[in-house]
Amino acid sequence: MPRQSNLARTTTSAPNDLEAFWMPFTPNRAFKKRPRMIARAKDMHYYTPEGRAILDATAGMWCTNAGHNRDPIVAAIKDQAEELDYAPPFQFAHPKSFHLASRIAELAPGDLDHVFFTNSGSEAVDTALKMALAYWNVSGQGSRTRLIGRERGYHGVGFGGISVGGIVGNRKMFGTLLAGVDHLPATYNREHQAFTKGEPEWGAHLADELERIVALHDASTVAAVIVEPMAGSTGVLPPPKGYLKRLRAICDKHGILLIFDEVITGFGRLGTAFAAERYGVIPDMITFAKGVTSGTVPMGGVITRKHIHDAFMKGPEHVVEFAHGYTYSAHPLAVAAGIATLDVYREEELFERAKKLEPVWAEAIHGLKGEPNVLDIRTLGLVGAVDLASKPDAVGKRAYEAMEKGFHEHDITLRITGETLALTPPLTISEAQIGEVADKLRAVIRSVA
Ligand SMILES: Cc1ncc(COP(=O)(O)O)c(C=O)c1O
Repeated sequence: MPRQSNLARTTTSAPNDLEAFWMPFTPNRAFKKRPRMIARAKDMHYYTPEGRAILDATAGMWCTNAGHNRDPIVAAIKDQAEELDYAPPFQFAHPKSFHLASRIAELAPGDLDHVFFTNSGSEAVDTALKMALAYWNVSGQGSRTRLIGRERGYHGVGFGGISVGGIVGNRKMFGTLLAGVDHLPATYNREHQAFTKGEPEWGAHLADELERIVALHDASTVAAVIVEPMAGSTGVLPPPKGYLKRLRAICDKHGILLIFDEVITGFGRLGTAFAAERYGVIPDMITFAKGVTSGTVPMGGVITRKHIHDAFMKGPEHVVEFAHGYTYSAHPLAVAAGIATLDVYREEELFERAKKLEPVWAEAIHGLKGEPNVLDIRTLGLVGAVDLASKPDAVGKRAYEAMEKGFHEHDITLRITGETLALTPPLTISEAQIGEVADKLRAVIRSVA
């Protein structure tokens, strides 16, 4: 068939045809047979186009920590759109970007006091990895080029992120990835950790694997280690007690930079502004995204320690110090949304709220122990995960069905990865709604028995 002109295509396409949109990380054919459409949202709920309320147990995708469509955030975005639509972030700037950077730096521990803006978590990760390599270059140790990630780690979908990441399915189709990358072992072991509330006792020794990797390559070739303080996307794996401190100590011993990918743990998810604070560990860089604008406008970034930033600030002053950035770094709408979001977090003390609710949440979710096919339950901060047994012939199908039934029949959103159901509600959730999440989840689990 000859190609239609663009004009012909626009004038003939049906308005609600599902064909053209190739959906990300979604089984497209299954979705389009029975779509899960979300038309609007308010506070703890999504609403379908027909008006059915769905309890959002996942804060979208770990994003809307302040709850949905909060008036002060919506107003800030509207006002900003009227005042300044766009300003170039290269060579020019708008004043609020500096304000937001200062506010984020204030929340970060220690001397993590400079902020580089991106538009997503994936870009934040690739920015941090490039910053680490460039840091060693400007510091006269250009041989430090190796990057160390962790098995079962998720660091977004850029080439850097999938290279240091440890998810086979996200790596195997994309060639040889970055060279010179190695991986720590994952920290999860069901035999030693099943049904733990909070950080498991077993597993701190797994940090010592870094010594083995460093011994193999020599410290003079290693630039940075990147880990999620709590691995999220491969099924919620809380760090064993003492693990992150041990990792920090080994990095210090060998002069290796430590990067915490806090794209999901940042902005209150674990009851502190960043997980770094919860664990009393100061990494050299923190990546963030999602919760910074409560998911309203895309934004991410990297917070760095002072010595990293300062290492770049030399040479002729008219020359760019770090050849990196995005057209939409510090976009005015994202910046306005970010400032309004941080105001809501502060005024409503949402990080403290998450901390206070942690035991209530843990109790409710662990109450599902003993339900059919439940192999493990993990909780940390306002995060929960339930592992289900696979159906004999189809790994991942039971969880997929749980997510489908959750939406269509039990009015709740669930995130799935493999056979894990993950829960990460907005930090505004009430105690009654925590009970509602557990009740709905119980019904969902029974419905896929
Ligand atoms: C730890 C971590 N890093 C990076 C990313 C990627 O973020 P984005 O999807 O905004 O690119 C995610 C997304 O879930 C994440 O969980």
